Amino acid sequence: QRLTTLRSPEKMAEIKCVGVVGAGQMGSGIAQLAATNGLDVWIMDADRDALSRATAAISSSVNRFVSKGLLSKARSLSMLCSCYFPIKFEAGDDAMRRLRLTSNLQDLRSADIIIEAILESEDIKKKLFKELDGIAKSSAILASNTSSISITRLASATQRPTQVIGMHFMNPPPIMKLVEIIRGADTSQETFIATKALAERFGKTTVCSQDYAGFIVNRILMPMINEAFHTLYTGVATKEDIDSGMKHGTNQPMGPLELADLIGLDVCLSIMKVLHQGLGDSKYAPCPLLVQYVDAGRLGRKRGVGVYDYR
Ligand code: CAA
Repeated sequence: QRLTTLRSPEKMAEIKCVGVVGAGQMGSGIAQLAATNGLDVWIMDADRDALSRATAAISSSVNRFVSKGLLSKARSLSMLCSCYFPIKFEAGDDAMRRLRLTSNLQDLRSADIIIEAILESEDIKKKLFKELDGIAKSSAILASNTSSISITRLASATQRPTQVIGMHFMNPPPIMKLVEIIRGADTSQETFIATKALAERFGKTTVCSQDYAGFIVNRILMPMINEAFHTLYTGVATKEDIDSGMKHGTNQPMGPLELADLIGLDVCLSIMKVLHQGLGDSKYAPCPLLVQYVDAGRLGRKRGVGVYDYR
């Protein structure tokens, strides 16, 4: 019955305006990439404090790129001048574009693609996708930055499953080279090509994954992080030695426990639960120590304490 109500696929418009929902670490990083690559951006978050924090994070990150000569000063100055609500870049340079902050989802109606970067909860994301489906242009792509939730199931909340896709950035998005692109069961080739082209415009390398729990990166990375928690939990070694061992022994930029703190322990736990449930193998069961840290509110860097204490 649902199939009869689906809209027929729309012709894709050229992507000029990007909407981002969620102004956390990932959302602000994605908005930064869009703005610094010449696109208009709306970043939406119900929490105005999160929008202010996003502004500060974007300004600081852009300054780091400018100080290395990787971004023009004019563009950076426009970013620096924009620390108020809403942000507006002044015209005067080809590179200048608008980055606007909003707490009203309706403002995303002009976006050609909307990238969702909210909490990792399937129910909350589905509710949002349903709402976005009613607001977004009929030609717009609805993308999710989910780290493991099924794109096919998110698409099922909309009447445009051919235009729903996973666009999974790595943390921190301005720095990390990869974007995983995940095709849902009904994602069209046109949607895939437009999304891949956008990621490449951001200077990213892309890989394409089918829609199975954890996709490529988290399917492999999260069990490693979970195993690092087991190694700590069972007293094999200290957290410092576990991280140092993996960092220097396998040439990783940071150890798995430090990385878990960067990603957020709550995010790691929710991905392990998705892997456990979606792949049905007990080897994916979250380590009790990871569960306990999350229960205790030790969520990682964003809370000032996780495996390590940053306070
Ligand atoms: N914006 C701009 N520049 C930034 C930045 C940001 N947000 N973050 C770091 N940098 C720059 C710094 O200025 C610095 O530049 P220089 O070397 O030129 O001075 C450089 O990046 C290194 O930064 P730091 O010195 O602060 O710290 P670091 O050397 O430890 O690097 C890191 C930080 C880039 C995060 C690095 O540790 C790293 O790559 N860690 C691994 C990150 C990772 O694996 N991410 C993927 C996680 S998995 C994921 O995200 C998927 C998921 O769904 C969970």
